[in-house]
Amino acid sequence: MRTSMPFLRKLGKLVLILFALFAVYAVWASYAEPPRIAIGNVVGPDEEYHVSQLIDSGIDLVNRTRAEAGDGIYRRDAHAKTHGCASATFTVNPSTDSRTALGVFAEPRSYKAWIRWSNADPGLHSDWAPDAHGMAIKLLGVPGTKLLPAEANEHTQDFVMVNNPVFIVRNIEEYTEISRDLGNGGTRRYFFPGWNPLNWRLREARLAMGLLKFPPPRNLLSDRFYSLTAYRLGTGNFVKYSVKPVPCKGSDDTPGRWAGFGANALGASLARQLCGKKKYCYDFMVQFQRTDRYMPVEDPTIEWDESASPFIPVARIEVEPQDVSRTMTNHFCENLAMTPWHSLPEHEPVGALNRARKYVYPGSSRYRRCQNGFGFGEPLDDGSMTFDTRPCTATEAAPQAGER
Ligand code: HEM
Repeated sequence: MRTSMPFLRKLGKLVLILFALFAVYAVWASYAEPPRIAIGNVVGPDEEYHVSQLIDSGIDLVNRTRAEAGDGIYRRDAHAKTHGCASATFTVNPSTDSRTALGVFAEPRSYKAWIRWSNADPGLHSDWAPDAHGMAIKLLGVPGTKLLPAEANEHTQDFVMVNNPVFIVRNIEEYTEISRDLGNGGTRRYFFPGWNPLNWRLREARLAMGLLKFPPPRNLLSDRFYSLTAYRLGTGNFVKYSVKPVPCKGSDDTPGRWAGFGANALGASLARQLCGKKKYCYDFMVQFQRTDRYMPVEDPTIEWDESASPFIPVARIEVEPQDVSRTMTNHFCENLAMTPWHSLPEHEPVGALNRARKYVYPGSSRYRRCQNGFGFGEPLDDGSMTFDTRPCTATEAAPQAGER
């Protein structure tokens, strides 16, 4: 025993040194910036291949969640849990910067809108489980030809956001890989593929810790949301979007962050607050890409530095008191389909992830809406909970990868 003590002490020291070295490496690796890429909009060689994979794995996720929920409803393959839908008005400010006066921001006016708040996971777990949250806004009564050929005459413009400024994957290959792992029971394999720590994706794991909001869940009306990915604003500029809760005119407070206990605390607090007498407001803002800084379009894990390019408020969102349960009971909320490609050309989504969304979202929404027997189409301009429904026929196929 006496003779082995120095050996054990040495071994202990060695383990401590190795652990300390790994800890230094892990911190360095989790903050190391990935290799820089061109900051423009660059189409990769095999995007179509990944898109078709995503559509297939998406349908599997929709079917899996349906089986787990056991209520027969086909839900979205991401952001499946609805916290609530509310009607709102989206009022464009007089522009303070000529670069913003384009598309839906071209002139001061108001649009009726629908907002859907959601989780991010493809499953329906408790709001106290770590997860990101989505906020998708659909403007109604927007004139002009839209980007999706099959929906060119629709009158809607969507903005799809999440409550975190950056994403956890850099490109479509990584998105396909993490979706596959998500479909096979979990993303641990994506972040830690094997025993060799040099292969571990420590930066992505750190970003995931940022994206996944840990309990307690934050009141949705007090949270800030971001587009993560970039969009055109006219032909000359790329922008990102963000919405931030602000005091409504005449009141000086914004809602507190506590949402309450319970598996559905977020939906319950949303319904409770919107059933009160108060109105809730957000500023809708755009951030311009600066080409003299590292603000890439093709890597949404890189945040565009707000001090270098501050967000500019271009519109005000107002959510009046209302009973949000009405949009749930009649499945109106479930049947809404939000996609960044419901858009005027001035707001074209850019970057590989956004290009993939052109096909993946309709692929998922057509499948679930038709399976639910709802047909598809956009809600009417008058803000009523009705759709100009079109029957699900084979001819009305969803856009296919590679279709321009
Ligand atoms: C390649 C990248 C992406 C893919 C393949 C993807 C896929 C999807 C799909 C299939 C849906 C459900 C669509 C439906 O059935 O109606 C969805 C919904 C959603 N996604 Fe993504 N997504 C991607 C990137 C993003 C990003 C970057 C964001 C961040 C803003 C995001 C935010 C959302 C939100 C908020 C919803 C719910 C929309 C609603 O309320 O209906 N997604 N996503």
